[in-house]
Amino acid sequence: MDEGEVRKIIMFPLPFPGHFNPMIQLARIFHHRGFSVTILHTSFNSPNPSHYPLFTFRTIPHNNEGGEDPLTQPEASSMDLVAFIRLLRQTYVETFRQSLAEEVGRGETVCCLVSDAVWARNTEAAAEKVGVRRVVLITSGAASFCAFAAFPLLRDKHYLPIQDSRLDELVTELPPLKVKDLPVMETNEPEELYRVVNDMVKGAESSSGLIWNTFEDLERLSLMDFRSKFQVPIFPIGPFHKHSENLLPMTKNKEDHVITDWLNKQDPKSVVYVSFGSLANIEEKEFLEIAWGLRNSQRPFLWVVRPGLVRGTEWLEALPSGFMENIGQRGKFVKWVNQLEVLAHSAVGAFWTHCGWNSTLESICEGVPMICTPCFTDQFVNARYIVDVWRIGIELERAMMDRKDIEKVLRSVMIKEGDGIREMCLKLKERANVCLSIDGSSSIYLDTLVNHVMSFDPYEVAS
Ligand code: UDX
Repeated sequence: MDEGEVRKIIMFPLPFPGHFNPMIQLARIFHHRGFSVTILHTSFNSPNPSHYPLFTFRTIPHNNEGGEDPLTQPEASSMDLVAFIRLLRQTYVETFRQSLAEEVGRGETVCCLVSDAVWARNTEAAAEKVGVRRVVLITSGAASFCAFAAFPLLRDKHYLPIQDSRLDELVTELPPLKVKDLPVMETNEPEELYRVVNDMVKGAESSSGLIWNTFEDLERLSLMDFRSKFQVPIFPIGPFHKHSENLLPMTKNKEDHVITDWLNKQDPKSVVYVSFGSLANIEEKEFLEIAWGLRNSQRPFLWVVRPGLVRGTEWLEALPSGFMENIGQRGKFVKWVNQLEVLAHSAVGAFWTHCGWNSTLESICEGVPMICTPCFTDQFVNARYIVDVWRIGIELERAMMDRKDIEKVLRSVMIKEGDGIREMCLKLKERANVCLSIDGSSSIYLDTLVNHVMSFDPYEVAS
């Protein structure tokens, strides 16, 4: 693009790390291609703009003008995720519409809105009203999205709601998924879950394009399946963080340095890195089984215990007295890490993960084998693909795990190195690099995406 022709992209991320991080990575990609980027973000969980100096940030207020934020009230903190997302969508539907209209009215040439798939229909009407094209970012994989899109069929065929007696049955319409792998979650509002999923799929279908944080060589069949059912153009340009990692050096804080120093002292491929992402919770009993399993395995470990991970506790107080002393320098508990950096460290030998899509891609890109303990929605689908399709990890089912299983699985991954798992990881890492190379599919899709959004007529405000 010539100077003077800068076009603006407006982005609207969902305010959780698993959604915000890929949106920021995508923002860097667009910025590198000459677009200016404005990020409209909710006042809830609002980011620190000084961490992202390339972009303009605008805060969307909550709907309770002059009053408390409905999302930080005690009722909200006791809600399950489905109810919380309902409240989130309600809280910002109207204020988003106003903020988008203001942003579009500023006079710059707006190319399009990129909104998270979960905002879906919230953004559809607002974008139509101001006459701006809408592109959707899907932060989960293609296989899980196909499973979400199949919800009406899965309900018709009585796979959903899930019955305990059918857990191990193959879903013949979605192989290799079993009934227990369907992307649902425990909720008091099952109909609301179906509504959120349905809105997400419909909102994606009616958009001007889908940007996908995945790559052809990883999900070729799922992407083909999607293309055969939907007309909307798709752009699988991932893994995003590998496009963007060289575009801006990552800032490191003091705690990052402490972790790197600890990792530097460990043997190559000896450390089990444990993290269950930014949203999952576990019971105290599960926390203790994991702690004992890690201790008994005698492997060095780095475990992200987010405040709030263990229900009913602040942080580590559930550990029995003497536990930390017994572990000594062999194990490290932290509240948050720079995960990209940890996974890229040569000391890390396995990633015990909840199989969030970002974590899955990040592990694949570093060739790190996974131990899979999915907790909800797309994580079940991702885990099935990691274990049975890509063969780069082993399953450690949450419902079954106790300290003995954990010890056994950790030893099998770290000592036996699984059944060719490490080799498969390296092959897939290589495939990711090929897709990202200059003639690779992700780079080609990125060029096509840039041309696609440049072909949109600059907005005309609807009368
Ligand atoms: C959720 C879903 O699980 C995921 O599948 C969906 O696509 C997005 O929303 P989350 O549970 O947080 O996300 O998991 P994940 O997708 O793995 O995202 C977590 C992100 O936080 C990753 O980018 C990871 O690198 C980062 N992270 C996590 C850190 O940087 N430090 C940590 O200590 C833990």
